[in-house]
Parts: sequence; structure tokens; C-alpha cells
Amino acid sequence: MSNSPVRPPRTPAEWDAYYELRYTVLREPWQQPRGSERSPADEEPGTIHALLLEADTSEHPVALAVGMLQPTTARQGQVRFMAVAAQAAGMGLGRQIMAALETQARATGLSEIVLHSRESAVGFYERLGYAVVAPSHTLFGVIPHFLMRKQL
Ligand SMILES: CC(C)(COP(=O)(O)OP(=O)(O)OC[C@H]1O[C@@H](n2cnc3c(N)ncnc32)[C@H](O)[C@@H]1OP(=O)(O)O)[C@@H](O)C(=O)NCCC(=O)NCCS
Repeated sequence: MSNSPVRPPRTPAEWDAYYELRYTVLREPWQQPRGSERSPADEEPGTIHALLLEADTSEHPVALAVGMLQPTTARQGQVRFMAVAAQAAGMGLGRQIMAALETQARATGLSEIVLHSRESAVGFYERLGYAVVAPSHTLFGVIPHFLMRKQL
């Protein structure tokens, strides 16, 4: 499966594809309402959005992987809404999204990234150099999360 470079969404159709993948992977399986895949932080000027599109879908963009980084302090950012399409899992796309977010985080002067990982994704973030700090919240009453951190 070929795909585009990682970059922010550019057009309304790409933004739709971006949020659609979030919804499909992170919200729909738990019967969460449309809109729950969005955060006010998405609109903040310092927020970094990363999108990887399937190639040759410019008429109807299809997102394969997405992620977002929200600056939380002058030196720290938080990765949120990481999602890879089920049909594209295990192909290195999640790694590409995280690498792009880390590169841009460094470029804006951030020196640390934190995130709240689902229990099932802790191993993924560990492969990328993140370490568990402590257990955090339980999403939708059923998905345990762990606070993780990486120095850039
Ligand atoms: C977790 C997720 C983001 C990983 O993305 P991906 O594109 O499948 O992962 P990659 O192919 O880039 O994997 C990178 C490395 O992590 C490993 N890895 C991937 N998912 C893993 C997992 N769930 N547990 C342990 N290791 C994992 C891969 O084997 C690979 O290792 P390698 O360096 O030996 O090759 C993706 O599967 C996903 O969206 N899952 C559902 C939603 C989710 O949990 N999002 C995160 C919310 S916190």
C-alpha cells in the first residue's frame, strides 16, 4: 500500500478524513457520539496535526494514520489522538506519525513529550523510546491508560 508523506491536513476534505479516522479507530468501537473525536485544543494555534493519506485519493482523501501534538508548557507537549487504520496497522505508519510529531516538537523548542497510552499501545510507545511514568485514567470505564514520557 503506497501512501503520502506525513503532513497536516490542507483541504476541508482532508480535515474530514483526518477526523473520520480518529472517530473510526478511537471512538466508534465504544459507541461514542460524533464530535467526541475532537478537542478545543485542535483549534489552538500551537497544535501540530500529522496526517498520512493513502496515495492517489486526492478526490476523496483516505487517512491511513493520524496524530496530534498539543503544547502543554513552554518545554513540554502532549501527543493525543494517535490512530492507524486497521488495514494499515503494523506497517510502520504509527512510527512515521510519531517521528514527524517529534521532529516538529523539537523544531518548536519542546524538550519533552508526554502521552496517555491505552494499555494495548504501551508496547508501541516503548518501542519508540517512551517510558511508563504511572497509571492514569480509565477511558469509557473500560480502557486503562498509562502516562508515558520521552525526553527529546
Ligand atoms: C498503536 C498504533 C498507533 C500502532 O501503530 P502501527 O502503525 O500499527 O505501529 P508501527 O507499525 O509503526 O509499529 C512500530 C513498532 O511498534 C511495534 N508495535 C506496534 N503496535 C504495538 C503494540 N500494540 N504493542 C507492542 N508493540 C507494538 C511494532 O511491532 C513495531 O516494532 P519494530 O520496531 O520492532 O518494527 C495502532 O496500532 C493503533 O492505532 N491502534 C489502535 C488505536 C490506539 O491504540 N491508539 C493509541 C491510543 S493511546
